[in-house]
Amino acid sequence: MASVTDVWDRPLTDLRISVTDRCNFRCVYCMPKELFGPSFAFLPRQELLTFEEIERLARIFQTLGVRKIRLTGGEPLLRQELERLVERLAAIPGIEDLAMTTNGSLLSLERARRLKSAGLKRLTISLDSLNDETFRAMNEVNVPVSRVLDAIGHAEAAGLTPVKVNMVVKRGVNDQDILPMAHHFRFTGHILRFIEFMDVGTTNGWRMDEVVPGSEIVAKINAAWPLDPVAPERPGDVAQRYRYRDGAGEIGIIASVTAPFCRHCSRARLSPEGQLYLCLFASQGYDLRRLLRGGATDEEIRDAVIAQWTGRRVRYSDERHQHTAPQPKVEMFRIGG
Ligand code: GTP
Ligand code: 5AD
Ligand code: SF4
Ligand code: SF4
Repeated sequence: MASVTDVWDRPLTDLRISVTDRCNFRCVYCMPKELFGPSFAFLPRQELLTFEEIERLARIFQTLGVRKIRLTGGEPLLRQELERLVERLAAIPGIEDLAMTTNGSLLSLERARRLKSAGLKRLTISLDSLNDETFRAMNEVNVPVSRVLDAIGHAEAAGLTPVKVNMVVKRGVNDQDILPMAHHFRFTGHILRFIEFMDVGTTNGWRMDEVVPGSEIVAKINAAWPLDPVAPERPGDVAQRYRYRDGAGEIGIIASVTAPFCRHCSRARLSPEGQLYLCLFASQGYDLRRLLRGGATDEEIRDAVIAQWTGRRVRYSDERHQHTAPQPKVEMFRIGG
């Protein structure tokens, strides 16, 4: 089977599929409430790729080397009958990992079980604080923290494990929760990941002084509970791994600002309306839906993806310091991080 590599010899092994641009949260670092109010126009239904179209693309990407698929959004659980898509993707031979990133607010135990039996392997759930007030300040929504903690429990009970928990850290907003979060998830088997606030999109008002460097987070936790570094599972992984010396489990640090990992970036991203993005910070996508709906053969679509990937040069985070003029960038909720 052919695999494809880009200009820097990076293979295409991961596909992140955003299934909707809608979300019931308004996280300050992604969809600030002032800009995404009740009248904001999300994509109409007919603009979204159908499950048939997504499956067709996933099969084509698999032939090019994709082994891992992650479903994202927006909030993926807002997409109706998502389990039917999971079933279709799980049935593709050669897809070894099928995961999803969600805010957890809509995950009942029943839904978690349905996703598991449809073939989803594991879940990552975002949680920025254990304190209701701070949680609201980060996510601008009236959902209690207990609802997300319940979702984490449901994911575990359904066997969608290991459950990962994503905490975006913003200085002055939730950095006081680093240790309480670490403490809470020690000895649970869940992998807590601390994420540097990133300059994705154009609307989140990103400033460097609101980024808490990963090294600072590690030092803080290490002083409370000593840590040892662990080798990455795969070269392209986003998280630096650490293990508690006392056997309490593992944490991750996603330091895309202070320690970029573009060198091994093997991720392609598909937006809900079928645009292919070669980087989280891309300004423009490539319209695969036009091919899908214009009668292109699998071979033609495959050739188009090959042409895109072989011409891929982008390494946004590596080159961040060289970007002088602000560039228009795709919004995070359109491509799911
Ligand atoms: P696994 O390693 O498979 O568990 O998943 P993941 O960490 O790649 O996925 P997740 O959706 O949990 O993303 C974690 C964080 O990493 C989010 O803040 C993403 O936006 C960020 N992230 C994921 N992929 C990339 C990437 O290619 N570049 C950058 N800069 N950030 C990324
Ligand atoms: N910086 C860092 N992480 C972000 N996420 C969303 N926006 C940002 C940002 N600006 C995270 C979400 C979710 C994951 C997919 O991306 O919290 O866990
Ligand atoms: Fe929604 Fe996730 Fe964006 Fe928060 S980060 S607004 S949960 S899509
Ligand atoms: Fe990949 Fe772009 Fe993220 Fe670098 S910034 S790791 S190239 S998605």
